Order: sequence, then C-alpha cells, then structure tokens
Amino acid sequence: MHIREATAGDAAAIAGIYNQGIEDRLATLETQTRTPEERAAWLAARGPRHPVLVAEAPDGAVLGWGSLNAFNPRPAYDHVVDFSVYVGREQRGRGIGDALLTALEVRARAIGYHKMVLAAFPTNRAGMRLYERHGFTTAGIYHEQGLLDGRWVDVIVMEKLLT
Ligand SMILES: CC(C)(COP(=O)(O)OP(=O)(O)OC[C@H]1O[C@@H](n2cnc3c(N)ncnc32)[C@H](O)[C@@H]1OP(=O)(O)O)[C@@H](O)C(=O)NCCC(=O)NCCS
Repeated sequence: MHIREATAGDAAAIAGIYNQGIEDRLATLETQTRTPEERAAWLAARGPRHPVLVAEAPDGAVLGWGSLNAFNPRPAYDHVVDFSVYVGREQRGRGIGDALLTALEVRARAIGYHKMVLAAFPTNRAGMRLYERHGFTTAGIYHEQGLLDGRWVDVIVMEKLLT
C-alpha cells in the first residue's frame, strides 16, 4: 500500500468509500450520498492548501482516502485545517487510516498549518482510537448536535497543535 495524491481518475473510488461511511451512520452527519461526477468536481475545485490523498494497493485499488479541508474562510483562521479520513469497509482495521492520517499531518506541516482539527462522533471507536493515538485532544462535545434518522447525535471536536 502506498499513499499518493488523488487524481481525477480516483473520483469513483472516493465516492464509493465516502458513501459507505455515510451509509454506516458512524462517521458523519452527512446523509446525501455522492456520485463520481460530484466527487470529480470536488477534486477539481481543491487548491494546493487542501490536498486529497489516497491509499493505493499494489494492484492499483484505492483502499481509502483523506483530505485537508478548509475550516473557515475568514483569514484569521488560515492556520487551522480540518480533515477527513475514510477507509473502505473491507479494509478497515489494517492500519490504512493510521497511514493516511500520518500522511495528512506531514502535508499539513509542510503547508505550514498551525493546527489540525476534526469533528467526529464520540461513539466512533476506531476513529477515537486513531485520533487519540495521533495526539489529538478533546476541545469539547456538542451535545445533541445532529438529528440522524430521528436520533440525537453528539459531536466531539478535537485538535492538535502542529508547532
Ligand atoms: C475511522 C477509520 C478512518 C480508521 O481507519 P482504520 O484503517 O480502520 O484504522 P487503523 O487500522 O489505522 O487503526 C487505527 C486505530 O484504531 C483502532 N481500531 C481500528 N478499528 C477499530 C474498531 N472497530 N474498534 C476499536 N478500535 C479500532 C486500531 O486498533 C488502531 O489503534 P492501535 O494502533 O492503538 O491498535 C476507518 O475505520 C473508517 O474509515 N471508518 C469509517 C469512516 C469514518 O469513521 N471516518 C472517520 C470520520 S470522523
């Protein structure tokens, strides 16, 4: 497995893996699944400060993806970056999320960000373990922040200073 920059040709694989995360209801308050075309436009719109990386198997299959996302458009927030990590259902628990997050952090430092932040479900055990292992600490919890399938969901906000 190796990590590389995503290209337009990865749009369908990225959409498929993202949709699994959306459908699992474990990862995100997003409920609208994506098409390869929508993800292709999403990829094309990203600048150098907001890269998308994929984990690729030796046979070329995309196993997971990660992205550095704009946190807030106000210039004062330019040194903060949000991120996403999604691993295909069949590939979870094999260190791919760990490798993607390591690569995202290397990129974030190289770009010059001061801090990485995330919002997640505190019930997402794999995610919590991953983020804690990478040194993210809890900034706080939004209680009953989302209504997902008629059920209130808490959202945990975590951060890691890079300098
Ligand atoms: C969360 C996710 C990115 C983690 O990636 P992964 O490749 O499955 O995780 P890794 O194999 O790299 O493991 C990372 C850590 O989590 C632990 N872990 C993995 N799966 C776990 C599970 N189901 N329950 C508890 N801990 C788990 C691992 O043991 C490891 O900790 P360790 O190094 O101390 O042993 C991945 O499971 C995923 O894509 N899930 C669905 C989408 C999602 O939740 N994305 C995050 C949105 S906030």
